[in-house]
Amino acid sequence: MTAKIIDGKQVAAEIRAELKTQVQQLRDRGIIPGLGVILVGDDPASKSYVTAKEKACEEIGLFSDDNRLPAATSQAELMARVRGMNADPKIHGILVQLPLPKHLNETEVLLAIDPDKDVDGFHPMNIGRMVLGQKAFLPCTPHGVVQLLVRSGVKLKGAHVVIVGRSNIVGKPLASMLMQKNETANATVTLCHTGTKDIGYFTRQADVIVAATGRPNTITADMVMEGAVVIDVGVNRINDPSKKNGFRLVGDVDYKAVKEKAGLITPVPGGVGPMTITMLLFNTVESAGRTAHD
Ligand code: GUN
Repeated sequence: MTAKIIDGKQVAAEIRAELKTQVQQLRDRGIIPGLGVILVGDDPASKSYVTAKEKACEEIGLFSDDNRLPAATSQAELMARVRGMNADPKIHGILVQLPLPKHLNETEVLLAIDPDKDVDGFHPMNIGRMVLGQKAFLPCTPHGVVQLLVRSGVKLKGAHVVIVGRSNIVGKPLASMLMQKNETANATVTLCHTGTKDIGYFTRQADVIVAATGRPNTITADMVMEGAVVIDVGVNRINDPSKKNGFRLVGDVDYKAVKEKAGLITPVPGGVGPMTITMLLFNTVESAGRTAHD
């Protein structure tokens, strides 16, 4: 079997078009959804993510408040910025790009963000609400994975989903989302990680495999059931002298071989990647909409 490709760019464009309409409706009522962005330092990957996030805001009519701070910024200055955004009615969502420089206390900063403006879904309050099945801002990458699956027509109810990787940003929240008793989940979830003895034993039983380990070739063809759905969250830079920038991006899945066995598969790039920013926009519009109902 050769897998059908899940086109993340297309699904992301579909959701962004829906959001653009919602933003216009909010603007018509005098509400301009605003995202406060804080980037500390000049890590090239973080800079390019933040630039892409701001561009995406502009494209659908959101206002973004861009704060690029020097690497030497103090904890007190950063906390003051966050508190300023908490108090600012023009800002409906706050994004502090991670990782922060080593001298800064990330936990303290994330705790300081008003949970009702925490559009990254990283605040313990939102994580707690999510686990309990209450209304919460859902973390963007796992929420994007769920949307990709649902909008590709994958039936999750009763499906066995095997997630490989237990990060706080992807694996753990995705497991929590997919086990919820609701319309877009209700799956049986297995979470594999570096302590799992034989990952293939579990993935071979999976209707849906989600790879989120940050390691190329974690999922090889022998680990996949014929016709399974394979979602690749990995973004790994591999040296490639034939490329102008000297590298190319690969996921965590041996794409070429697994594509011949899976029923549906996401490519890297162009699969999960475009969904992450889209769900950040989704959360920000949602947050602005909540203020409209207050
Ligand atoms: N760094 C890598 N991914 C993310 C993300 O989703 N949000 C933030 N704030 N920082 C990140």
